[in-house]
Amino acid sequence: MSENNAFFSVRDIHAYYGESYIVQGVSFDVDEGEIVALLGRNGAGKTSTLRALARVDNPKLTKGEIYLNGQAVHEMKSFEAAQAGIQLVPEDRRIIGGLTVEENLILSQVAEPKGWEIEKIYDHFPRLGERRNQDAITMSGGEQQMLAVARALARDIKILFLDEPYEGLAPVIVEEIEKILMEVRSLGITTIIVEQNAVAALKLADKALILDMGEIVFRGTAAEVLDNKELRHEYLAI
Ligand SMILES: Nc1ncnc2c1ncn2[C@@H]1O[C@H](COP(=O)(O)OP(=O)(O)O)[C@@H](O)[C@H]1O
Ligand SMILES: [Mg+2]
Repeated sequence: MSENNAFFSVRDIHAYYGESYIVQGVSFDVDEGEIVALLGRNGAGKTSTLRALARVDNPKLTKGEIYLNGQAVHEMKSFEAAQAGIQLVPEDRRIIGGLTVEENLILSQVAEPKGWEIEKIYDHFPRLGERRNQDAITMSGGEQQMLAVARALARDIKILFLDEPYEGLAPVIVEEIEKILMEVRSLGITTIIVEQNAVAALKLADKALILDMGEIVFRGTAAEVLDNKELRHEYLAI
């Protein structure tokens, strides 16, 4: 059982791709409803950490504990972690081409336990409602990211992992997605956001973690990161 009261608790996790030792003892806690930014250079191990936390097979978690609401996620397979309410939106967004926006949403709703109804999703994402019959892959990058987040909400999630949601999006679209993520936060959904666009991620984040070579080298508030020039230069290139 969990020894502390954190909603999501990561304790000394280690993970490998084959022989490659990538996640090298990562620990952090996330409170319910919080947005945590997980930052760091390219290749720092951010995606690998999210994948290990979502219990995806690769990288293989070899050591450490992960608790969601006291449930031992480290003992789960990926589908069990998904059923427990962990949702990873990968960098490529996994929009299914050849299917409409609505069909993409319906596919997510097939999974149990169910989250939002389709109409509620359209209320919160009117742009998706307007495009419900459009082939999802023909939408803009920003719209596809909206759909990726909406699909996550169609399931009954407890924690959302977003891997570079702003990648490839124009600044004005980034702002639109930011609004959506603020709304997601106002619904009480806990989020870990991985971003190369550190400034944008820090705008939303309650807490920031910086990863380097598979280890956390800094933890603090968003303001502490922005105020620390050396940290920004060394790890974030901002
Ligand atoms: N499937 C894989 N097999 C082997 N090594 C990988 C694989 N995916 C990523 N890596 C390596 O793991 C390290 C961390 O990668 P990643 O987690 O993708 O970093 P980030 O998301 O921070 O850019 C890198 O050195 C990368 O080359
Ligand atoms: Mg990555």
